[in-house]
Amino acid sequence: MTKRPRRPKGRSEEVKTKRKLNHIAHLAKMEARREYHYLKHCPSEFLVFKNNNEDVQSKIAQNYPPVDDLPVLPSSDESIFIIPLPPLAPGDEQLAGTSMMARYIMDRPGMTAEVNQWLEDVGAVPLLLVRFIRLVDDEHQYQIVDAWDRFIAARPSPPKSKQENRTRFPGYHFGIWQHYALLPFITLDSLQSDLKGDRYLLVIQRMDEFLSLVNKYIVPAVQRMLQWYAPQQIQILEPVYEKVLETLGPQLRERPALNFGGLFFAIAAKEGSSERIHLDFFDVHGLVTFIFIVSRRGSTWSGGDFVAPQLGGRIPFKGGQAIAVRTRSIAHAGAEVTGLGRIVITCFCNSGLVERALFGPPRDDGKGKDYVVLDLQ
Ligand SMILES: [Fe+2]
Repeated sequence: MTKRPRRPKGRSEEVKTKRKLNHIAHLAKMEARREYHYLKHCPSEFLVFKNNNEDVQSKIAQNYPPVDDLPVLPSSDESIFIIPLPPLAPGDEQLAGTSMMARYIMDRPGMTAEVNQWLEDVGAVPLLLVRFIRLVDDEHQYQIVDAWDRFIAARPSPPKSKQENRTRFPGYHFGIWQHYALLPFITLDSLQSDLKGDRYLLVIQRMDEFLSLVNKYIVPAVQRMLQWYAPQQIQILEPVYEKVLETLGPQLRERPALNFGGLFFAIAAKEGSSERIHLDFFDVHGLVTFIFIVSRRGSTWSGGDFVAPQLGGRIPFKGGQAIAVRTRSIAHAGAEVTGLGRIVITCFCNSGLVERALFGPPRDDGKGKDYVVLDLQ
């Protein structure tokens, strides 16, 4: 074996120093683009709350100004806007007894302590919200929306989930979730099993083309942003991904586009915006969900600010941007959108999937089991 000639030592030190300086300059540049908004206390209205969006809306209407009166929050369109996780107000600690994790409390008492303790052990995700800028290039947005339009043109069967009356356009859910089932399963929207023949084949093919582009352009952006802003979330989800592969490995090998690499497990995709204030009750308190906006080529839509009264305002939300936010704890809506061509892709982890992968079926707390065995065949 021939030995590689060594580089002269002086030069390599020089290169290292130069790289280090470049890195520091890059960090400083990024820091200059960040804009922080500090809340005095963590909003706690929905830490312990029944799954009812009518009540969410009336509580928000009682406690906060109307949506149109909320201020616009970041001062610049070009800033990465960050709301770090603030401490709980003094009285709120009792919400979680002795646990510091009141802010992540689950509704079902049987699960709460264990999930909270585990999240506490690995470290909490230290964010309420981040709005990122330019995560998806224009050309990549157009490709994604073209693929979405081709999927819709193939006439998929209507979405299977309840839409909860909060949106003008129905949304499809692709990927994996669990809800109250004993094992993770692939969403019905992904399977399209009520279609037959050529139409079925075409719909699945176009869905997978669309999801492949999500894997190509959105998944790496989520990975980078999590590594940078909330690496704890990657760690929390590792055992969940293992469980998913254990249960659904063969199906995912057949449909690799449904596998988002364990950074999230499902996406919701739709045109427009979710205009009514709501919480996503099937998301996880301690984790952030990523919402991406992608624009159709040539579209001129306007509006669609991300509205979060508990965070003190509305946040402009343009094509190519993403917001990572605690969608289970912070009530939110999209402001009305004028015009067409705004597609929302929400990347989330289903709470049933996360809880049961980490802790198995919930205990029967005397009020009946809170899971059912689904016959999916
Ligand atoms: Fe939502």
